Parts: sequence; C-alpha cells; structure tokens
Amino acid sequence: MSDNGSTGFRRWEAFYGRRKAKGLSPKQQHRMDALLPALRLDPQTTPVADLTSVFSHQPAHLVLEIGFGGGEHLLHQAKNNPGSGFVGVEPFINSMAKMLASIDDAGVDNIRLYDEDATALLDWLPEACLDRVDLLYPDPWPKKRHWKRRFVSQRNLDRIVRVLKPGGLFHFASDIETYVNWTLEHCERHAGFEWLATCCKDWEEPFPGWTRTRYEAKALREGRTPCYLRFRKSA
Ligand SMILES: C[S@@+](CC[C@H](N)C(=O)[O-])C[C@H]1O[C@@H](n2cnc3c(N)ncnc32)[C@H](O)[C@@H]1O
Repeated sequence: MSDNGSTGFRRWEAFYGRRKAKGLSPKQQHRMDALLPALRLDPQTTPVADLTSVFSHQPAHLVLEIGFGGGEHLLHQAKNNPGSGFVGVEPFINSMAKMLASIDDAGVDNIRLYDEDATALLDWLPEACLDRVDLLYPDPWPKKRHWKRRFVSQRNLDRIVRVLKPGGLFHFASDIETYVNWTLEHCERHAGFEWLATCCKDWEEPFPGWTRTRYEAKALREGRTPCYLRFRKSA
C-alpha cells in the first residue's frame, strides 16, 4: 500500500492486513456503490472544522471506533445512543460491506464511516473533537518481531490524544496479555493519558453499554480472558 504521491496525502501507515477476502454479492456491491459514498468521510477532499457538521443531527457526543470488524459494537452503540455521533473505521472491505448492511437494516443515521487506515483519519480530524476513541481487539501481532506493527505506538497515542477533548476517554480491549501490557506501558510513558483503574474489577469488567464483539467471542471460546483498559486524556 503506498502513499498518494500526487497529493502528498499519506493513505497507509498502520494497516498490514488484506483488504478483501472474497468477492461481494451484487447486493453488497450495490450498497458499497450507493450507501458508502453517502456515509464516507473523505479526508482528501473534505476539510472539516466541526465534526458535528457531518451528521444530520447535532450530536451531543462523538465517538470513534478504530477497526470495527463485524461492527457489532459500533452498531449497538449507535442504536443505544441516538443523540451521539459515531465514526467507524475499517479498511477490510468485506467487513465494511457487512456494516453497511447492518446500518441499512437498522435504519440508524448516526454512523459515519472511513474505509482506509485509521491514522489518516486521525490526522484529518480537528483537534479536541472526540469524547471517546475505542480500539477493541486490535490485530495482536503476537510474534515479537511484529510488535512494531501494533496500532498502539507513541505516534498513534499522540494522534489519539490530539483528537480527544480534554477529559476524553480512550478504551482499549484485548485478550492478548502481551498486547495489554504493551498498551499499559505505552500509555504510562505517554504524558497525555491517565489509566483509570483503581482495582482489578476495572479491567475485568467490560465498558458500560458493552456488547460482545466477534473477536471477543472467539477469545472466550478459545479460553482467553478479555481485559478492558480505560484511559482519560490528562488535564
Ligand atoms: C482483530 S480485528 C477486531 C475487530 C473488532 N474490533 C472485534 O473486536 O471483533 C482488528 C480489526 O482492525 C482492523 N485494522 C487493522 N489495522 C487498522 C488500521 N490501521 N486502521 C483501521 N482499522 C484497522 C482490521 O481490518 C480488523 O478488522
């Protein structure tokens, strides 16, 4: 995946997976052609000073979910918080097609989408515009030589902290112990975040309004324990 040399816009930095597994059905392709352009944020063409302006209502809270996969959590949140606005990022085309079907079936109007690398969207978003960033079961890259590919890095924490409002939250969930420790260490070293845990219940119990994602279900089936980390943007 390369940068777009003509515009200088960097499109891919932290995405290492494949974008497509199997062809889309005609119905899925139709939604990609008809519905995605209406919901897609476009950092290459649309400057945005006020993120609430991309929604048809005036959302009271704005939340970004990075790598929504099957979209279970994003859809659940959007349905249960109609006064909020949600931005979901997912470069995997088959997952995006599934999300579009869910949005269409549920008739929700408070989700906007981005289908490329979340780092490009983070760089485009205005400063201090989000109440929360969710990073749920990010690709674990379990082999030590691949740890540098993990989404949590000092650079991406800088990006996340920039777009969070003062006191905004960063939610991270994973079932991979080395990634949980990695994230704790990175956030501890980063001056912009404060870990909100005071006792073990705080990382053992899911976030408020939680619904199980596909990867969490897989982790539980395979005997791994989920861990939920809550960080607040430091004052
Ligand atoms: C292990 S899956 C978890 C999906 C979902 N959050 C869940 O819990 O079921 C990680 C997801 O992150 C997406 N992803 C990986 N790198 C990304 C990036 N740089 N920007 C946005 N999404 C990314 C992948 O395509 C994949 O769908």
